[in-house]
Amino acid sequence: MNAKVNISNRAGASFPVRRMNFDFDQVPEYWAKDSAGITHFMTALSALFPDGEKLFIDSVRAVRYHPVIKDNEALQKEISAFIGQEAMHTHEHAGFNASAQKYGHDVAKYERETGKVIQGARKWFARVVRPFGMTQEMVDLTATTALEHFTATLASQLLLNKHIQELMTDPTMSYMWYWHAVEENEHKAVAYDVYEEIFGRGVKSYALRNTALVLAMALIFVTQSSFVIRLLKEDGKLNLKELGMIYKYAYSPSKGVITGMTREMLAYFKPGFHPNDLDTVALLEKWKAKLGI
Ligand SMILES: [Fe+2]
Ligand SMILES: [Fe+2]
Repeated sequence: MNAKVNISNRAGASFPVRRMNFDFDQVPEYWAKDSAGITHFMTALSALFPDGEKLFIDSVRAVRYHPVIKDNEALQKEISAFIGQEAMHTHEHAGFNASAQKYGHDVAKYERETGKVIQGARKWFARVVRPFGMTQEMVDLTATTALEHFTATLASQLLLNKHIQELMTDPTMSYMWYWHAVEENEHKAVAYDVYEEIFGRGVKSYALRNTALVLAMALIFVTQSSFVIRLLKEDGKLNLKELGMIYKYAYSPSKGVITGMTREMLAYFKPGFHPNDLDTVALLEKWKAKLGI
């Protein structure tokens, strides 16, 4: 593993911010067990993060001094640490994405496209729900809660699914993904708590958060899949063998990391849902010890 870990908890939150500084120089082109399919499945996810996490940070920042929560000291500490963790994730994923350029993978192009998709979708969605008294701030924050549920669920799959772990063969890349996965679960409730504190648990906020999840998942699936196909095509590796690998390890009923997310994803639709309903404390303790973080 090529990283210097620097852990700090200046905010005094329930979880720290870790500065990682990964060195991606030695990462091979197809770092996931020599498979272009699996590698680019992860590359396509990585391309979503810089602009996706910017949305998460901006949406929480936009409301953090709302009268309902501005004096809530405990929540303010969590928000600070949440912003710190997401900023570190963006920093490292952007670093990896840029490093892939040495193999001719122009991930920056996909980062820019992600930004356009996000900006287009959030403005369109806000226009649609404006007649129901919902604001852009509410839309952005609920998009964040939906996407945070997605990242936390994907993260717990990465930490639990032995099949996908066997494919994460490069030590630097697997460490980066596991570190990110641990932190997604550490801060999974922050945006959700902010949303509920400000907008409550009424019918309107319930309807909005569910609609946001459905739309966000459809958008992620289409965007990430199109990135995977184009990355493989650019490498001349768009073939049945690589697509078969992706199917087996992402979408097959027995091993798939995405299909493995189904139950936890659906839990979001329960009226009394809270991100901490799924207890990952023991799982995180095990992984933090293993990673030395
Ligand atoms: Fe993140
Ligand atoms: Fe997150």
